[in-house]
This record gives sequence, C-alpha cells and structure tokens, in this order.
Amino acid sequence: MASIYLVDDDSLVTESLGAALRLETPYAVRTFQSGADALAALSAAPPDVVISDFKMPGMDGLALLKAVRKAVPEAVLMLLTGYSDKDSAILAVNEVGIFAYVEKPWDLQDLLLKIKGGIERQELTRQLRDANRDLERQNRELRLAHDRLVTSERMAAVGRVASGIAHEIGNQLALVGYAEAIKAKARAGGNGEIAEFADVIVTAQKRLADMVGEIKDFARGQGGEAVEVRLEPADVTAVVDEALAILRYDREVGARELVRDVRRRPLARLHRGKFAQLVINLVRNAAQASPAKAKIEVILDEDERGVIFVVADHGSGMTPEVLARLGEPFFTTRGERGTGLGLGICRRIVDEHGGQLAVESAPGQGTRVTVTLPGLRS
Ligand SMILES: Nc1ncnc2c1ncn2[C@@H]1O[C@H](COP(=O)(O)OP(=O)(O)OP(=O)(O)O)[C@@H](O)[C@H]1O
Ligand SMILES: [Mg+2]
Repeated sequence: MASIYLVDDDSLVTESLGAALRLETPYAVRTFQSGADALAALSAAPPDVVISDFKMPGMDGLALLKAVRKAVPEAVLMLLTGYSDKDSAILAVNEVGIFAYVEKPWDLQDLLLKIKGGIERQELTRQLRDANRDLERQNRELRLAHDRLVTSERMAAVGRVASGIAHEIGNQLALVGYAEAIKAKARAGGNGEIAEFADVIVTAQKRLADMVGEIKDFARGQGGEAVEVRLEPADVTAVVDEALAILRYDREVGARELVRDVRRRPLARLHRGKFAQLVINLVRNAAQASPAKAKIEVILDEDERGVIFVVADHGSGMTPEVLARLGEPFFTTRGERGTGLGLGICRRIVDEHGGQLAVESAPGQGTRVTVTLPGLRS
C-alpha cells in the first residue's frame, strides 16, 4: 500500500488534513511537525508521496523536499504554500522536480486528484524503469552473443590463414629429402662434419613438419570444414603402447616415471593415429607440469560408462583461471615453449571419437585428465 508523509509545523493542518486523507484515500498517512522528524523516518519507511508545508521554522519545505528527493528518488513531492509564496513555489517545481503545489487553503478534491495522479505517474515510472532494465539486460546478452560470434568468426579466419601458411611451409618442407640425401652422400664420402650439419637440418625440418601438422589439424577444426574420421575397431592398449613407445624418446617424458596400469583391455572404435596423438599430448602435458622423477600414471579401464583412459600427474596443477581457459586455441602458460594447441586438439580428437574429456586439477597437487569413449564389447 502506498504511503503519504504530511509535514506541517501547524498541528491544525496535520490533524485536519491528515484525518481527511485517511478518510478519503486508501493510503497509509503519517504526519510530522517538522522537516527533521520527517527525514528521520525516511530510511525506515520510505514514503511514496510527501506533502510538505513551505514555510516552517528550521528546515523549510523546499529543503525538506530536496533531501527527500535525494533519499527516495521516486517519491512524489508536493508543496503546500500560502498565496504569497506562490512564486517561489513555482520555481521549486523545476528545481527539485516537485510534482504539484497546493495552495492554502486547499481544495480537498483537487488535492486528492493530484495525489492520485502522482501515484499513477510513479507507478508508470516504475514500470518504465523495469522495462528499461529488461531491455538493458537483453542488450547485454545480445552483445555477449555477438562477441562470441565474432570470436568464433575470428578463430575461423585465423584457422583459414593458418592453414594457408601451413600448406606453404609444408610444401617447402618436402625439401627435407635433399637434406637427407646430402647427409647420406656426405656420410658415404666420409665427410662427417657435413653429414652432421645436414642432420641438424633434417631434425629441425622434421620438427617443423610436426608443427605444420598440428596447425593443419587445428585449422581444420576452425575452418568449419568437417572431416570424416575413419574409426576402426582397435585394441586400445596396443594403441596406447605405441604412443608410449614414441614418448620414451621425449626428453621431458623420459625424465619422469611413467607408470602404465592396464586394469582391463578394452576395445574401441579408434583412429589409431589420432588416438596416439591424444595420448602423446596428454602425457607430454603431464611431464611438462611435473618435476623430474615424478610419477605419471596412464590408466586403462572399462566400465558401464565405456572405455576409460586416464593420464594423472602429481605436478604443478592448474589454477581455476588456467582451467577455465583450457582448450582455448593458442592459450599456453609455457611461453615460447608451448603453442597452446595441444589440449584443443585433444578435445577435438575425443569429440571425433564420440567421447568425453574431463580435467580435474588442483594447484600444487596435480592434474587428472579422464577420457571416456564408447566401448566396443562383443
Ligand atoms: N597436466 C597439466 N598440468 C598442469 N597444467 C597443464 C597440464 N596440461 C595442460 N596444462 C596447462 O594448460 C595449458 C594449455 O595446454 P596445451 O596442451 O593446450 O598447450 P601447451 O602444452 O601450452 O602447448 P602445446 O600446444 O605445445 O601442447 C598449458 O600451457 C598449461 O598451463
Ligand atoms: Mg601441451
């Protein structure tokens, strides 16, 4: 229910007008003898309408209404004035945003109409404000959606550019054959030094070729061109073991303790090369986050959810901030040494296998990546 404050130092006014308002309106009416008293009540019970006498000892009506406007911006303000104060009252209408002024002696019907009008306008203002808030919220959501779209568009563009560059570099890398030929020739001719130089080139180019492959993989996912991945029934353990065999040559992985724990020997429909890539990326991440000699567990299992493949480490773990950005292309905390594509590629490989990838991590405790794939039980 709306409430009215009636403020006048003349108790005759507060009593008679107060009684009339209580009788004629459905509103809760409170009367005050001074501006200070009215202000003191404001915060506990903010009024919808304040009707104040203009001339009062101490704080006058205008000062009071100004203070009310500050504390209760939506309040409907009315000034009661004697005839002689009319001009200053009109000024106040603009200055404080007073809704109406009422001349003494008041016409009760006129006053009631003004109060009703004020409350209606207040109600409208509130509805307008709510509608405005809704609009702003929708606007924000729209902007967010737009930003997301722009980001994915941009990623698609990056993907196209990257794949173009990767393609060019890939063509040049075919020249690795020359370096290999030089190496072979130099070795045959007994020129060890040149063979060694050539070998450096061969190694570097092979590393470049790997990177180009990664970028092409990434670009394929961003460019929108869906590629059909051929999945074939496979012994998951065998594929994991192939990947682990390759990883033994990895310096960082080699310096950690790799523990392989095959609890069941599941079958699944796999793309062997891609699944091996997944294993390699995850184990390398684990090794890069772990101190030397730390244990890295690779677990294979199968239960009602399907095939379960886990890589768990006891390394640095990830902060919630890093965890939230995982899989974002080019996001890396390893500076120059990381491209920040590894996990994104893993996610896509798992997607292509119809599986799920979950990461649990706690700073200082380690990380556990769990890949679940549909099983292939006979
Ligand atoms: N096992 C892990 N423990 C701690 N942090 C990890 C782990 N795996 C990934 N991260 C964090 O996630 C980031 C992104 O990993 P991601 O594999 O995508 O890229 P990267 O390893 O930095 O580079 P690369 O493309 O060479 O793999 C890493 O930089 C690292 O901060
Ligand atoms: Mg990585």
